Amino acid sequence: MQEIFDQANAVLEEIKISNPATAEEVEQFRIKYLGTKSVLKDLFGAMGKLPNEKKKEYGQLMNALKDAAQQKFDGLAQSLEQGKSSNKEIPDLTAPGYDVPLGTRHPMSVIKNKMIDIFSRIGFTVAEGPEIEDDWHNFTALNLPADHPARDMQDTFFLTEDKNWMLRTHTSSVQIRVMENQKPPMRYIFPGRVYRNETITARAHCTFHQVEGLYIDENVSFADLKQTIMYFAQEMFGRNVEVRFRPSFFPFTEPSAEMDISCFVCGQKGCPVCKYSGWVEIGGCGMVDPAVLENCKLDPKKYSGFAFGMGIERITMLNYRINNLRLFLENDVRFLKQFESAQ
Ligand code: DAH
Repeated sequence: MQEIFDQANAVLEEIKISNPATAEEVEQFRIKYLGTKSVLKDLFGAMGKLPNEKKKEYGQLMNALKDAAQQKFDGLAQSLEQGKSSNKEIPDLTAPGYDVPLGTRHPMSVIKNKMIDIFSRIGFTVAEGPEIEDDWHNFTALNLPADHPARDMQDTFFLTEDKNWMLRTHTSSVQIRVMENQKPPMRYIFPGRVYRNETITARAHCTFHQVEGLYIDENVSFADLKQTIMYFAQEMFGRNVEVRFRPSFFPFTEPSAEMDISCFVCGQKGCPVCKYSGWVEIGGCGMVDPAVLENCKLDPKKYSGFAFGMGIERITMLNYRINNLRLFLENDVRFLKQFESAQ
């Protein structure tokens, strides 16, 4: 008989010390002590085994048990509810903030900025011109009069029937705009987008970017040009890089040259980047043709200067060993996110 009382007291004790925390544990508690198959039901059932004089005492114990279980459950349910709503109302102001996802710079922007930085250290300033150009600035003033065969060097997107307006085919047009409006000494670079009516392949596109350079002063010589290009190449690609000038032709420069750098990919042993020649072309250059100076109302007897033009795509592809020009304009994030983060 005492056994039955002991059992009930043990359960009472159990209820008092139990400490469910999560919603799931609280539910387990409810099922165990207050559910339809609860422990208390069995204990109530045991009442029948007791002699009558003990029934009152046992009944009181049962009521105490039931109340204890109910009270405990109510308290737990309430604090669970409060926990939920208080989280909503009072955010934890000391919690660390969310990461703001930072993008990356386009590889062409990284290289363009680096080129600007390199040239600005030796006194070149950035200037820009329009992408829609007239015939004078894109061709005629650059010593390419109408019907000059060299116009065919660049396949042009003309915008008007009379072919007077076009998308500029090179940034050399900005040279003219600057020389028409400034006085020597002039030391400028012109980065920008250009357009040519070409089939899109891994190595050519109908739109690409150039950096043009121009230096006009008294007594500027080819040696100044060579030194400037050498400085640029070594700052851009490393101290061991060599520069080579090959005689060439451009209507706006005389003499003209094409600029090559020694292939730093293979150390001039021969590789696909340099087509097994050990040298990689980076652009054209030369001494500004006196006819061009005259077109811009500058006296060729007093002033001389050099100009050069380089493709930014080319330099970027060399720098990052990118082998397909089309990647630059496809905006595939898997490609783009490999480059410098935009901080
Ligand atoms: N404008 C030429 C081109 O797009 C590049 C060039 C060559 C620019 C020689 C120059 C230069 O300033 O001197 O093909």
